[in-house]
Amino acid sequence: MRTTVGIIGAGPAGLLLARLLHRAGIDSVVLESRDRAYVEHRHRAGILEQGTVDVLRAAGAGERMDREGLRHDGIELRFARRRHRIDFPALTGGRSVMVYAQTEVCKDLIALQLTEGGPLLFEAQALAVEDAADGRPRIPFRHRGRADVLECDYAVGCDGFWGVARRAFPAALSRVFERTYPYAWLGVLADVAPSHDELVYARHDRGFALLSMRSPSVSRLYLQVPADTDAGRWSEPEIWDELERRLETDDGWRLARGPLTQKSVTPMRSFVHEPMRHGRLFLAGDAAHIVPPTGAKGLNLAVGDVVTLAHALAHEKETGSSDLLDAYSATCLRRVWQAERFSCDMTTLLHSAPDATPFDVRLQQARLERIASSRAAETDLAEAYTGFPLGRRQISAR
Ligand code: APR
Ligand code: PHB
Repeated sequence: MRTTVGIIGAGPAGLLLARLLHRAGIDSVVLESRDRAYVEHRHRAGILEQGTVDVLRAAGAGERMDREGLRHDGIELRFARRRHRIDFPALTGGRSVMVYAQTEVCKDLIALQLTEGGPLLFEAQALAVEDAADGRPRIPFRHRGRADVLECDYAVGCDGFWGVARRAFPAALSRVFERTYPYAWLGVLADVAPSHDELVYARHDRGFALLSMRSPSVSRLYLQVPADTDAGRWSEPEIWDELERRLETDDGWRLARGPLTQKSVTPMRSFVHEPMRHGRLFLAGDAAHIVPPTGAKGLNLAVGDVVTLAHALAHEKETGSSDLLDAYSATCLRRVWQAERFSCDMTTLLHSAPDATPFDVRLQQARLERIASSRAAETDLAEAYTGFPLGRRQISAR
């Protein structure tokens, strides 16, 4: 098999890249190791930054999102049994976010790719990326048990944290920056209307809690739990009791309960691989970087990467200049590190670390009080949460 851009992985990064390249008249083939049902049903985050919403619309993939997604103009911070609302449009000159599950974004992009785009092979596992530094990359893969090779001008690893593309970087070139956290999130989906119309991020001595949603009738909730927690050990009533304790306020707010339909534990990690390019091989999304989910940045960062890459590939096709491809890694990493900073700040602001000293706890409270009492501090949070604009200048910056 031969194509211009060989894409490994059909998560949001790989699928959106294929869509953007198709719109720019550049062929691609997407290899995805899992089957379609698996990719369309795994539960992931659900907050789209304004820039992500704009990109999906411009890619012709925003129709259902605009119908079913929920525009959110703020979030609530809860601490010391009080609530503080952050008003995004007022603080950022009109920006907001959209609640629309990553799973739904993937379903929409898969449907478009299969009807209008180039080949998208499910159950096609890439085994390696070869010759990316000196020649045209070759991607040996197994498709439903049969061995094959994808030859391409460029290879893009959109294969997530556990993928194979990163391994093709020479050890002498790779630098990894990493932090793990001594806690995880126990996430549940519940068939009950969300108890608040915006997301609630709660700091409590017993640990962090988050109230989110998937639709007007489905709630998504998370509890901070120890890093090695087995989700099966938490019963349904225990989960609701704990959520209630951590989300409780003094003004009589009530948490509505309903049947849980899904339960899982998400580890928390910060990770960056530098550089994001080696010869004709590029990394995008979770393959290159991971953020803890507190800032809701994972999907949005993946979108930023593939927009930058698609633009650089289109620029090369139109002008013959590889300037933007050469700048890809540095351009993305500037944005990535801002998201790493924000995600780490939000995480340490809201979680109870098992080794926190009383001094650390007082500092955490002071940071929250500062946000609740300073427009400058609130604006800083609102700007980062809604996302820094994915302008043309940023896309093409060196
Ligand atoms: N061959 C083919 N496909 C592979 C291989 C391989 N060797 N290894 C992994 N994959 C596939 C996975 O099955 C998965 O579908 O690559 C895809 C990677 O998708 P994601 O993990 O979703 O990563 P990405 O597209 O970068 O999305 C960014 O944002 O909300 C966050 O972490 C969350 O998934 C999310 C991410
Ligand atoms: C989610 O709805 O899954 C969600 C929302 C906000 C986050 C993380 C996850 O910060």
